[in-house]
Amino acid sequence: MKRTLLVTGSSGLIGSEVVTYFAGAGWEVHGADNNMRADFFGPQGDTRWNLQRLQQTFPAFHHHELDIRNRAGVVELLKELKPTAVVHTAAQPSHDLAASRPFDDFDVNAVGTFNLLEAARLACPESPFVHMSTNKVYGDAPNEIQLQELPTRWDYADPAYADGIAETFRIDRCKHSIFGASKVAADIMVQEYGRYFNLPTCLTGPNHSGVELHGFLSYLIKCNLEGRTYRVFGYQGKQVRDNIHSHDVVQFMRHFIEQPRCGEVYNIGGGRANSISIWEAFALIAEISGQPMKHEYVDQNRSGDHICYISNLAKMKAHYPGWDITKNLRTTFEEIHAAWVNRH
Ligand SMILES: NC(=O)c1ccc[n+]([C@@H]2O[C@H](COP(=O)([O-])OP(=O)(O)OC[C@H]3O[C@@H](n4cnc5c(N)ncnc54)[C@H](O)[C@@H]3O)[C@@H](O)[C@H]2O)c1
Repeated sequence: MKRTLLVTGSSGLIGSEVVTYFAGAGWEVHGADNNMRADFFGPQGDTRWNLQRLQQTFPAFHHHELDIRNRAGVVELLKELKPTAVVHTAAQPSHDLAASRPFDDFDVNAVGTFNLLEAARLACPESPFVHMSTNKVYGDAPNEIQLQELPTRWDYADPAYADGIAETFRIDRCKHSIFGASKVAADIMVQEYGRYFNLPTCLTGPNHSGVELHGFLSYLIKCNLEGRTYRVFGYQGKQVRDNIHSHDVVQFMRHFIEQPRCGEVYNIGGGRANSISIWEAFALIAEISGQPMKHEYVDQNRSGDHICYISNLAKMKAHYPGWDITKNLRTTFEEIHAAWVNRH
């Protein structure tokens, strides 16, 4: 039987990884992306190169130049495709941009997600629907957890969080940023379509997922390679993030699509084993590249920045015992480093 996947944001970082895996696995993959990343971030954000790469590599990949804010267009596409599964990664992903263009941020993140959910309910209510969220839905509430300062990092002092932050953590009564709030709105609607309408929906929200040329690890590694100074903002440089390779994100999506559930939330992330502080990241990249990391310390943290964020992977592993992290942090660092070296 032919299996059809609709991926929104298919030219973006995570969307293109989803296309790559499923097209490679024999699915017919349809991508919806209007290159709004270029509108948000200027020429630097242009995703056309990635679209062309996908089109050249995968004959079973079909691109649709669709804006997810276009409600009638979204309904029409879902009606036409009736996909076996939907993976929704199209988004406005930046805090700063959300603050300067709140209407666009909410229209893409919240309303766009709602358009897709309702269109899926009308066209293919049995099809699994995966929504990419973010850990920013927890706002700055993770900073309320009691912490301890270790030589190179902050860590949770409260044993309840020894394995990280679970899906039961509260999402309201804290400061999110405009971006975080629009993602919360989308998340609640994704859960509601699962719980109220019984659509097989789930949402997963990493802190940082990436390979190659995108995100904070990528930027840090590029600075190292080019001998540029990396600015550390507050928390003594001991702020901790967990990082997941996009390959492992996509594998989790595959497990969910094969055995969907309704209205579930998963804190997808690298977990404790893939957590690292800024200082530790400096040391690791210096070890890999052989070049010291130049940095300067700014004694002011970014507003609402997490001091320590580690995802608790227990629920994901309990629901999908076949899934686990397969790429450790060193592998991710080495891949990003190699990708930048190739670019130079
Ligand atoms: N990459 C990460 O580390 C990370 C971390 C946390 C959460 N996320 C979440 O994962 C999702 C995908 O992130 P990403 O890093 O791949 O982002 P990205 O910016 O690389 O990709 C998003 C894609 O969506 C497209 N898009 C934007 N507005 C659109 C619209 N109106 N209609 C159609 N397409 C549109 C963009 O052109 C872009 O190609 C987002 O929801 C993001 O918040 C990503």
